[in-house]
Amino acid sequence: MSEPNQPALENLLTEGRRFEPSPEFAAQANVQAGAYDAVGEDLAAYWAGRSRELLTWRTPFTQSLDWSDAPIARWFADGTINAAYNALDRHVEAGIGDRVALHFEGEPGDSRSITYAELRDEVARTANVLASLGVRTGDRVAIYLPLVPEAVVAMLACARLGAPHSVVFGGFSAEALHSRIEDAEAKVVITADGGFRRGKPFALKPAVDEALAKGAPSVEHVLVVRRTGQETAWTEGRDVWWHDVVPQASTEHEPAWVEAEHPLFILYTSGTTGKPKGILHTTGGYLTQVAATHRDVFDLKPATDVYWCTADIGWVTGHSYVVYGPLVNGATQVIYEGTPDTPHRGRWWEIVAKYGVTILYTAPTAIRTYMKWGEEIPAQHDLSSLRLLGSVGEPINPEAWVWYRRVIGGDRTPVVDTWWQTETGAIMISPLPGVTAAKPGSAQTPLPGISANVVDDDGQPVPAGGGGYLVVNQPWPAMLRGIWGDPERYADTYWSRFPGVYFAGDGAKKDEDGDIWVLGRVDDVMNVSGHRLSTTEIESALVSHDWVAEAAVVGASDDTTGQAVVAFVILRGGGPEGVTEAELVETLRQHVAKEIGPIAKPRQVLVVPELPKTRSGKIMRRLLRDIAENRTIGDATTLADSSVMDLIKSELSGGGSKD
Ligand code: PRX
Repeated sequence: MSEPNQPALENLLTEGRRFEPSPEFAAQANVQAGAYDAVGEDLAAYWAGRSRELLTWRTPFTQSLDWSDAPIARWFADGTINAAYNALDRHVEAGIGDRVALHFEGEPGDSRSITYAELRDEVARTANVLASLGVRTGDRVAIYLPLVPEAVVAMLACARLGAPHSVVFGGFSAEALHSRIEDAEAKVVITADGGFRRGKPFALKPAVDEALAKGAPSVEHVLVVRRTGQETAWTEGRDVWWHDVVPQASTEHEPAWVEAEHPLFILYTSGTTGKPKGILHTTGGYLTQVAATHRDVFDLKPATDVYWCTADIGWVTGHSYVVYGPLVNGATQVIYEGTPDTPHRGRWWEIVAKYGVTILYTAPTAIRTYMKWGEEIPAQHDLSSLRLLGSVGEPINPEAWVWYRRVIGGDRTPVVDTWWQTETGAIMISPLPGVTAAKPGSAQTPLPGISANVVDDDGQPVPAGGGGYLVVNQPWPAMLRGIWGDPERYADTYWSRFPGVYFAGDGAKKDEDGDIWVLGRVDDVMNVSGHRLSTTEIESALVSHDWVAEAAVVGASDDTTGQAVVAFVILRGGGPEGVTEAELVETLRQHVAKEIGPIAKPRQVLVVPELPKTRSGKIMRRLLRDIAENRTIGDATTLADSSVMDLIKSELSGGGSKD
């Protein structure tokens, strides 16, 4: 384990501002003071109560938690349930089928509002189509789509069949898609001809064709949504147009009533090795916690709120707080296909005004980008409908937090800084908006029903004012149930560092009041614009290029994206002939984009003669980070060769390669 990627944020703990909920907000809040005490000692009993309150079980469960086979948890195991039924049908049966479930805003300006009744029917039709393509309960389906309503429909159609979905972010490359399809042995891939981004159509289907050409014998069919109308290569017998089969399918469909522990989805995320981990989530516990947290943390009033989470469905935030949490709660929400700056930098705020968005959930990187663009942009739009703001994905610096509340929230809205992970499935640490006096930059308190703490190297809780590692002490309903196909890696990664407790991989501090400040990863995982990337994965991509002999990647702090990828490479045999350094750098950046996806493209590629290593051969990333962040080089006494840093510095002073 190396030291935290983020510099120690000592100055955070001197942040003294407090934002109490207004009396008006507190009075109407879903969760009132006393919520923490009301949980009692038996956390599993608390969650069983929440599950009965928030979900409709086909067969009610009688067992809450079985932890006898730890770290494999079984929640509500003797109950049966269906996720799509809970997200849709039961709302229609309860008479709210006319409520809008999704206000879809396409990037080119097209929009559609879809009610719960319509969405239920579309999901049932799609489930029938998937069944006719051979998908059975338990089969895996890969989804590679832009953020269009069909993405939500596809996920819920899988859930309706009890066929775990594996959503792959549309920005990932054919190579990344291939490895995910292969690992999950998906039977069907659902994709689109393309989508719209920054005012232009982009293609998706060619990446699916390329991925399948690499060999994916499990895949029998590709179901293709027509989004852009662009020319699309076709494999007869394998490929099926969505519009040829879904509209005419029957809306009669009996959901698969699955056991609570039936897999709901696999979602791949970066770990510390080159191979992404297929994080497995199951049904009953996951739905319980996403519904509970969505209601409590966002103070959701389903009949009146208009909720907007800006995440793509390719990430866990899109799974838990675009698809499952909001729909299980019967919320009305906005989904937007494009980027914040298309066709102009006020697009998000125009959308807030257009739909009267009341709750906004986004990432610090977006907030910092808007800060950079200037307050006059949001000021041109009516944001008075907003009553709560949320943040997720990376530490939010206090200045961005305060700006978000003042400029976007009109100095009146609570801001909830929510800490969680792909693995935790749902929010774990967050203020409660009607209860907590918020501290800018801190996620503060484990939610009722969650036991989390900051511990030292020996696993002992640190005292107030201390720092260490973030752990979760007791199982929670939405916890991952494993890594697809790799039970050992599951136990090793999360449960071996501190026996019996879950190690999150984050460093954290506890302030004098006992509030938690999450500082960032302590392993070789970076966080770029709230997206998780593995240093090792990018290093593997770089060394797969003929020119590169060795590579080391670090996450350097970046004012907008939180961290940025900086790569140090040693060239094979002094490098290619007749290629300028600028060309070389650009080729390697594009190579990473092709291997993993544009989000992984290094901000800088620095060509160096050597890498700093310890005597046991470990790369000292801390020293490379010092270079990447233009700092004085720190303690280098454990280097095997003490002259290496001088060598690197003198080479680099000859010219950097930042673009
Ligand atoms: O380092 C933490 C950071 O994001 C990591 C989880 O990334 P991912 O699985 O992609 O999920 C992101 C969306 C839930 C964590 O290990 N992180 C997430 N939320 C916060 C955060 N760091 C600080 N504060 C947060 N609120």
